[in-house]
Amino acid sequence: MHVMDAVKALSNKEKIAVVGLGYVGLPLVLLAARKGYDVFGIDVSQQKIDLLKKKQSPIQDESIERALQETSFIPTDDFSVIKDCNIVIICVPTPVYENHMPNLEPVENATRAVAPHLRKGALVILESTVNPGVSESVVLPILESISGMECGKDFSLAHCPERINPGDAKWNVENIPRVVGSFHEAGLKKAVAFYESILTGSVKPMGSLKEAEAVKVVENSFRDINIAFVNELARSFSRLGIDVVNVIDGAATKPFAFMPHYPGCGVGGHCIPVDPYYLIEYAKKNGFDHDFLALARRINNGMPHFAVERLIAGLNEKKLAINGSRIAVLGLSYKANIDDCRESPSFEIVKILKEFGADVVAFDPFVLGRSDVQTLDEALQGSVGVVVATAHGVFKNLAPSDFTKYGIAVVVDGRNCLDKTNFIRANFVYKGVGR
Ligand SMILES: NC(=O)c1ccc[n+]([C@@H]2O[C@H](COP(=O)([O-])OP(=O)(O)OC[C@H]3O[C@@H](n4cnc5c(N)ncnc54)[C@H](O)[C@@H]3O)[C@@H](O)[C@H]2O)c1
Repeated sequence: MHVMDAVKALSNKEKIAVVGLGYVGLPLVLLAARKGYDVFGIDVSQQKIDLLKKKQSPIQDESIERALQETSFIPTDDFSVIKDCNIVIICVPTPVYENHMPNLEPVENATRAVAPHLRKGALVILESTVNPGVSESVVLPILESISGMECGKDFSLAHCPERINPGDAKWNVENIPRVVGSFHEAGLKKAVAFYESILTGSVKPMGSLKEAEAVKVVENSFRDINIAFVNELARSFSRLGIDVVNVIDGAATKPFAFMPHYPGCGVGGHCIPVDPYYLIEYAKKNGFDHDFLALARRINNGMPHFAVERLIAGLNEKKLAINGSRIAVLGLSYKANIDDCRESPSFEIVKILKEFGADVVAFDPFVLGRSDVQTLDEALQGSVGVVVATAHGVFKNLAPSDFTKYGIAVVVDGRNCLDKTNFIRANFVYKGVGR
């Protein structure tokens, strides 16, 4: 069947179930429902389902909050709704254990919960980020053994990695292009047709499940490696007295073959600091060591320590010890203006500061529940040093006088987001990451 025929064959009243209603699954259910599908959103978190039933968003995001008011999707913790669904999309987390080994338990559990209810002819799509091979060697056998059906004959299996970038005003679940891989040709056509029916972005069919899985881990490893490169430059240039940000901006004037990435006090989020480990471990099992990826991970994991080193150097200039000093850490989420704290380097910075004997006070206006204090004023009151760990809008405009009035002696700009010249003009001890 041609893709266009498959699109026509897809009735917009087909029923869809999305399993896992987080940063990935929730925008997807809202989009599919808006495009006319009957959509069930399934999650194991009763708290999340209760909130969604009241049309309240578990995520701080205005567009999601708005869309929830008008949506027809049905939130539930009951997997048996899958028996009526033609398409089941799995969007559960894929974290790593503390030793950085991939943790596929949520994917396995979700697949086990889907399988008993799978109807003949259904299409199962895995959207979670996984290493090459997971769809075929983990998801497929669970589906077959529990459902008693055969993949490629009784049901289809596809992988379409999500690329959503929370907080991005331009790129969203609807317009980001997607890639799709499948176990067999008919499943590929059906999956491509489905995504073409809900997206404005393009949909590229891949040659296999493994190719589609590899696309996502390669994208995120590419970013991790490039960030590691500029983080290494930052550490070097801070000794050489060169402002690395100015250099990167200079290099970025080259209109081809250079893509600017910027250094910082650490890489956070559910994707960049996690996904490379999936490829590293999978390749290792198959006899190949990804030295380059492993080195990038090591460099980026070392950045919270570098931020603390910068603080210690700054305090030293003022003849102050870190031990016993009150230090304010501004920002707990991993990126600006969102509340997502997963893998955030801020927590590592707090931990290291405490190990050095600092009296740490953390504050994030987006994450008040995990903050030590509820206002910026309380965080700065009595502090001698500050680490700006997240480039939230409210922090970016802070001027030297906003710190000096509290007697703060040193500021580490962990995101290079403050106006450095202002601080230098004010004769303030300012330490950036590589500037
Ligand atoms: N967050 C992002 O920016 C982003 C971007 C692209 C891809 N991804 C990938 O998408 C996947 C999901 O990420 P996320 O950020 O949406 O995660 P999340 O933690 O925000 O949401 C996952 C949801 O799945 C639910 N869940 C866990 N186990 C379940 C189970 N067995 N059955 C049903 N529900 C279950 C959780 O309760 C949670 O609500 C991951 O593989 C991630 O790497 C995330």
